[in-house]
Amino acid sequence: KKTILTGIKPTGQIHLGNYIGAIKPALDLAKVPHYQPAYFVADFHGLTKIHQADEFKQLSYGIAATWLALGLNPEKVIFYKQSDVAEIFELNWILSCFTPKGLMNRAHAYKGIVEQNREMDRDLDDGVNMGIYTYPILMAADILSFQTNIVPVGKDQIQHVEIARDIAETFNHHYGETFVLPDYQVQEGTELLPGLDGRKMSKSYNNTIPLFEEPKRLQKLINKIKTDSLPPAAPKNPDTSIVFALYKEFATEAQIEKMAECYRSGIGWGEAKKELFDVMNHFLEEPRETYKELMGSPKRIDEILENGAERARAIAKPFLKEIKRKIGVHM
Ligand code: TYM
Repeated sequence: KKTILTGIKPTGQIHLGNYIGAIKPALDLAKVPHYQPAYFVADFHGLTKIHQADEFKQLSYGIAATWLALGLNPEKVIFYKQSDVAEIFELNWILSCFTPKGLMNRAHAYKGIVEQNREMDRDLDDGVNMGIYTYPILMAADILSFQTNIVPVGKDQIQHVEIARDIAETFNHHYGETFVLPDYQVQEGTELLPGLDGRKMSKSYNNTIPLFEEPKRLQKLINKIKTDSLPPAAPKNPDTSIVFALYKEFATEAQIEKMAECYRSGIGWGEAKKELFDVMNHFLEEPRETYKELMGSPKRIDEILENGAERARAIAKPFLKEIKRKIGVHM
């Protein structure tokens, strides 16, 4: 069986980038018979940013409820909260002893903050806690604890999966074949969904379209998507349009073909956006309701996650023991 693993950190509302870049491909992979999916709430990754208990808790429930509302089947998927699986954090330490500091200096998320500080003439370490700095090691522990083969992610996470691979190789080199080397899988075409302003859609840029936004707000946000200023009758290239890229994710094959034709023969952006809203809202109506229901019954979410954590620990625990034996922990 191939293990497919991915996580989302609770630092904001789930947005279209998360859905299209990670959740949708992961849910598709979960349907493949001989794959074992393991999807989780990366709450301790979220803790690098969110330091308000109530907010943290709500955001974590939000991630779990989103997956479930979109159809994740907890019977098939090992679905858990990262903080429930202590073995991951033990492995995190072990891996950190095999990770050169220089590798962390080059990690995008950390480097991004340093660059920003430099531009603003601030102390370079401003706003960097050690959790942010060593973030990729914990992510490596997430991945390697379960002998993961494939990690479905957005393009922004590719470097992290490569780091996990590097660390695994170093360890294997010292102690012999231990870890499976993971591969990432990114969604072609929408590896990095742009946000309202054209930059990468990201919680930290405040340019997101939350997945379960109320219809009215959703329509407003869609209307804000940046487009070119061609007149309505001018032909549009569907392949370079964000509005069309989004349309494709929610429409049927027949609808997509028809819409591409409309773009090529000329469609106003107002109308194109209205069409986008219609297919999106049609798809989201039911999950949005389920999401609300689930958010109202956190006990049910807890039960599902606890059950998943038990299954996750059953895999991670014996493997960690084997690793400890390999490094010479007296047992
Ligand atoms: P996070 O929570 O920032 O994002 C979750 C997933 O959404 C993808 N994504 C996007 N994809 C396309 N276009 C976008 N604009 C966009 N924005 C976000 C991300 O690539 C990601 O796949 N470090 C991870 C969480 C994590 C993890 C892991 C993932 C922790 N441990 C182990 C995989 C395996 C993160 O911060 O994702």
